[in-house]
Amino acid sequence: MSLTAFSALPLPLTQLSLAAVLQCGQSFRWSRYHLGNDIKTPEDYEYRLCLRDRLVCLRQSPTTLYYRTVTPLASENDEQRALREAETLVWVNNYFQLDIDLSKLYVEWAARDKVFDNLKERFIGIRMLRQDPWENLISFICSSNNNISRITKMVQNLCTYFSPPLLSAPSPVPNSTEVIEYHPFPPPSALSATSTSTTLRGLGFGYRADFIQKTSKMLVDAHNTKPNYPDGREPAEHWLETIRALPTAEARNELVQFMGVGRKVADCVLLMSMDKKEVIPVDTHVHQIAVKHYGMKGGNAKGKTTMNPKLYDEINEKFVSIWGKYAGWAHSVLFTSELKAFAAYGLADVSSAASASAPALLRGQSSPPKPKSGVPKAKSERILPTPPSTPALSRKRKSDEAEDVRQTDSSAGSLADRVKQRRR
Ligand SMILES: *[C@@H]1O[C@H](CO)[C@@H](O)[C@H](O)[C@H]1NC(C)=O
Ligand SMILES: *[C@@H]1O[C@H](CO)[C@@H](O)[C@H](O)[C@H]1NC(C)=O
Repeated sequence: MSLTAFSALPLPLTQLSLAAVLQCGQSFRWSRYHLGNDIKTPEDYEYRLCLRDRLVCLRQSPTTLYYRTVTPLASENDEQRALREAETLVWVNNYFQLDIDLSKLYVEWAARDKVFDNLKERFIGIRMLRQDPWENLISFICSSNNNISRITKMVQNLCTYFSPPLLSAPSPVPNSTEVIEYHPFPPPSALSATSTSTTLRGLGFGYRADFIQKTSKMLVDAHNTKPNYPDGREPAEHWLETIRALPTAEARNELVQFMGVGRKVADCVLLMSMDKKEVIPVDTHVHQIAVKHYGMKGGNAKGKTTMNPKLYDEINEKFVSIWGKYAGWAHSVLFTSELKAFAAYGLADVSSAASASAPALLRGQSSPPKPKSGVPKAKSERILPTPPSTPALSRKRKSDEAEDVRQTDSSAGSLADRVKQRRR
């Protein structure tokens, strides 16, 4: 195992809140570790995701996103590590779509919609991830008639049982001696055998077991498994990515060919991994939001209506007319605000820190997290078993210092200036 020190990317919570975005039912594969401080703040968590060739670790302060890379390689020289880190930064920018200015969108949505205007302070930093289409497709086949905690368990089991571990890494929790195995998401060929169904049923996937196996088989049959691309992915995975270039309706037609993929699942994939920003996946929760807040007709006394294509279209048109071409993104903020798990979000702990610090950010009063103790710098890269509780400690490269300078320089300007500055 080889790991880099944390690198810093100046990024206010208003642009990205990991606590919201990684836990609101977009991706089901991030592990979250509580780093054990008494006061719950954004700094208090580390998030990890295993990609095909590396583990990405993220932390966040009100002003900065920290990222580090762990690879299975026994050792790397400085140059290789720098390359690894540069690749991870490209991935971070792409996965979180950081070229899109979320603060500007919030201003637009609030101007167009009173309901959004009331939520915008509490639910900051909720943006759409740009996920891997293959992982996204299989995860949302699991999502039918299901809830976030159960989908998370199923997706984790899928990785544990069908994908060998890429590497083991020590837990980031202070004083923990735990070493954790990390599995990437399995490729299509790992799920296409008929025996997959039986295994998945045994793991509690129910009727979704057959859908996953059959969809994998369809993809493998149509696109073969070889040759693998240099990035280690299979032809079917690359083909799924090419669907991004199709217009929404054509892309949807491709997706609904697969087993277990109806309009709702297809629309989740279109929105979350295929760049279709206007698409609203309509389920009962979204329908209820439309009824409760936006004057759509409800169903019977219990509010139950059978979803049909006409109503589905009406709800989509309604929301696009309210929020505009990023309607799918705006819907995600409303959707999150209605989740039970987010009932206290933005009122106490994690996000009260978040919303409390947002105005400070706007006034340019933020400061980088303060080191708490003197961890020897030279050791922090390779020897330190767990990262320091304040990631800033392990920053030491010139590029990081440059980031700091930019951050200080721009903190005097408006948020918009800062975002612009970050882009340059
Ligand atoms: C999720 O669904 C499972 C199985 O239907 C159920 O046991 C569990 O209580 C549900 N969890 C939540 C948080 O609703
Ligand atoms: C970790 O262990 C050290 C030394 O044993 C102790 O002083 C410290 O309080 C512990 N930290 C936590 C978070 O438990």
